[in-house]
Amino acid sequence: MEYADLLIENHGKVVVIRLNRPKAMNALNDNMMNELGDALYKFDADPAVNVIVLTGSDKVFAAGADIAAMANYTYAADTYPGNYIGRNWEHILNIRKPVIGVVSGYCLGGGCELAMMCDFLIAAENAKFGQPEIKVGVTPGAGGTQRLPRAIGKSKAMDLLLTTRMIDAAEAERTGLVSRVYPAESVMEEAIKIAQGIADMPVSVAMQIKDCVNQAYQMPLSEAVRYERRYFHAGFGTPAQKEGMSAFLEKRKPNFEGK
Ligand code: HXC
Repeated sequence: MEYADLLIENHGKVVVIRLNRPKAMNALNDNMMNELGDALYKFDADPAVNVIVLTGSDKVFAAGADIAAMANYTYAADTYPGNYIGRNWEHILNIRKPVIGVVSGYCLGGGCELAMMCDFLIAAENAKFGQPEIKVGVTPGAGGTQRLPRAIGKSKAMDLLLTTRMIDAAEAERTGLVSRVYPAESVMEEAIKIAQGIADMPVSVAMQIKDCVNQAYQMPLSEAVRYERRYFHAGFGTPAQKEGMSAFLEKRKPNFEGK
């Protein structure tokens, strides 16, 4: 399927979704968010895909929600009662398959909020993260005040949110916002290699891990551990566990195809 604001690339069981509004620094508008949802739900249901990589261009992941579109929004028509900005932003959290975010260049405002919904982030050395919404007169609206402090701690998060300071890839890695950093020239190649490694694992277990880790932010610890243990117990009724444990004992590489 062709999208107006996204590019799709296939790499075996890995699919890459690129945010693609180059003239507007990949500003996230309603159409792009609808298309992103469409693509994510389609790949979530596609047995040929195990892992999704979400990225932008070499220069920008996304410079936030589309300020040109939002400038004339009114409360009644475009925010809560009307078109409800934000309603189509959380598809990454709602799908089951892992989504790896790969960030090169600017990752700001809604762009950073979208990136933080990914299961983990890989950054290029030129990445810059920030929440500059205060400068355009609004509070972040897609989890910036919630996911950023959980990712990097309150003090750093408040610093970014109040001052609009951007952090580079090294500081993002040091603070735990991103998991790995690579040179800009090789970041996509490295990310696809990582994604393909995950795609060789049992997709059913990858889904369960994503679900459990996301519960860590919603549930009390004791409940979340019980939640995890139910998946662990249920795992003994699955082909993935039979294949994984037999392969280990037989000293061969497991084949998790379709598991
Ligand atoms: C619309 C944007 C945009 C944005 C950049 N552009 N960011 N258009 N919405 N968020 C457009 C510019 O208007 C310009 O268009 C073109 O992209 C190139 O941008 P420049 O500013 O000329 O580039 P540069 O000088 O390199 O600066 C890059 C930048 C800067 C640092 C990323 O563009 C910037 O600060 N952008 C805004 C960041 C921001 O405030 N984000 C938060 C938005 S609020 P023309 O036509 O002039 O070439 C938000 C709320 C989320 O995200 C709510 C979620 C529900």
